[in-house]
Amino acid sequence: FSVNLLASIGFGPALGMAAVPNAVIQKYEGSFFSFIKGVLGGDLQTLAGGPLFLLLNKYFLEYGPIFNLAFGPKAFLVISDPVMSRHILRTATTDQYCKGMLAEILEPIMGKGLIPADPATWRVRRRAIVPGFHKKWLNRMVTLFNERAEILSNDLKMKEGKVVDMEERFCSVTLDIIGKAVFNYDFGSVTNESPIVKAVYRVLREAEHRSSSFIPYWNLPYADQWMGGQVEFRRDMTMLDDILADLINEAVSTRREASVEELEERDNADDPSLLRFLVDMRGEDLSSMTLRDDLMTMLIAGHETTAAMLTWTLFELARGDPGLFREVQHEVRTVLKGKDQPDYHDLISMKKLRYSLIEGLRLYPEPPLLIRRARTEDTLPQGSSKMGEGIKVLRGTDIFISTWNLHRSPDLWENPEKFDPTRWDRPFKNPSVKGWEGYDPDKVTGLYPNEVATDFAFLPFGGGQRKCVGDQFAVMEAAVTLSVLLKNFDFIFEGSPDDVGMKTGATIHTMNGLKMRPKVVSDDDEIPPSDGWWEKQHLKRGLSASG
Ligand code: HEM
Repeated sequence: FSVNLLASIGFGPALGMAAVPNAVIQKYEGSFFSFIKGVLGGDLQTLAGGPLFLLLNKYFLEYGPIFNLAFGPKAFLVISDPVMSRHILRTATTDQYCKGMLAEILEPIMGKGLIPADPATWRVRRRAIVPGFHKKWLNRMVTLFNERAEILSNDLKMKEGKVVDMEERFCSVTLDIIGKAVFNYDFGSVTNESPIVKAVYRVLREAEHRSSSFIPYWNLPYADQWMGGQVEFRRDMTMLDDILADLINEAVSTRREASVEELEERDNADDPSLLRFLVDMRGEDLSSMTLRDDLMTMLIAGHETTAAMLTWTLFELARGDPGLFREVQHEVRTVLKGKDQPDYHDLISMKKLRYSLIEGLRLYPEPPLLIRRARTEDTLPQGSSKMGEGIKVLRGTDIFISTWNLHRSPDLWENPEKFDPTRWDRPFKNPSVKGWEGYDPDKVTGLYPNEVATDFAFLPFGGGQRKCVGDQFAVMEAAVTLSVLLKNFDFIFEGSPDDVGMKTGATIHTMNGLKMRPKVVSDDDEIPPSDGWWEKQHLKRGLSASG
């Protein structure tokens, strides 16, 4: 079954971009019924015949790092180039690009929270929220991560030898962590199923479905009163909003106002949450809507993203070269031998573990696309594309920056499809990519190689002013959780790694779960020998590079 979507849906608006190839989704390769379902449901994934970012990867390899994608009534400029991405994310001012259609989709859920916020709102809220992520708080969070990893570990010990869906376990532990960290609420989802936890997941699925739809079905008149999923969505949102309202009221009623400096020193042992910090901050806007939007945004932004990083890293470690798995386990068990819990310094010592997690984010970026809309006319720098100088972007143009394509570009990475955490120890550069500085390991400061060290070839947490506020939090959370698991367990795939599959929404999920059997190891067991696998990889690359 094959159909020209432009013809069948009717039109494709001109974006007015000059000298950019057009990729038009013309051939639909599914069944007649799934095509009708896709059109009626307004579902981009169905129309794309699978995850949209995979289709964009195909076009990227065919048309290069910038092309115009016409998709029925929608059109996007798709960018997979570090120099242009750097321009949009960092060089341009916050007023020049906004979140565009992402904001329209997320607004009913996140309101004016930081992710969808328009530039004016964003400026005020970002200034209020960032101080909450101060150093002492992050250290306090390491204790929380440990407590929660321990609960997960004990639960897995009880399930030893049985089949466990590790993706589901990671989603539960990260939900419990974000609930406590952001508003001191214990979802308890690692050990219990509750209607609230179910409501959170249904809201997340609805948000993901909306973000892959080109028809805003949720805006149909009274949709929340007659349309199946929308009635339930409204009920779920009301339930979550009620919980948040109670937590906010409680925090406001026990407010102890102080300056940011005083708050950084305050020991809120009972309630170290961001909500407590924001409510106590002198001069903070205490309107419950503002707080609600911020909390809801962080609940959604900080939950499945971290779970996905853990899921895909464990997947790649377990299915890859056994030498690498042994090497990372050896590092973890050596650093944590005789210790109850990893602390910040241990996380710094476990570089192979951190680089594995970051390599997981390279291959599976969350989200795989960043979305922007030009608010004013702009000219993009030439970048690595073979296009002419300066591509004009008209006001109103919708843009996808494909992190998936950037992270897997053959122009930017050696063996881009290979899970190879050792790559982060070696510099790389490609002189044919004009204006791109390449990656310099000496520029890595802190916990992970970021967008600056890679000159915007790697955007795990975005870049520029709207970069993720939770990057340090997430990397530490994932490093604590995975280290506790690798210290206590071996993991054996149930079935073949090929059964895991992949599907997408805002984050990349498995199709069938990450089914594994945990096998307990004790601290007294011999640490598996490291046969110098990591160093040998460098040697191999060095030798092959010099011929
Ligand atoms: C923004 C990824 C964890 C809160 C972003 C952006 C990315 C990202 C790519 C930029 C979006 C854009 O430019 O359009 C991730 C990943 C995570 C993670 C991969 C975990 C592995 C977290 C956590 C929190 C959080 C734990 C909160 C505790 C936010 C917020 C923003 C954001 C509030 C919006 C920032 C702004 O616009 O000023 N995240 N994130 N994220 N993230 Fe994260």
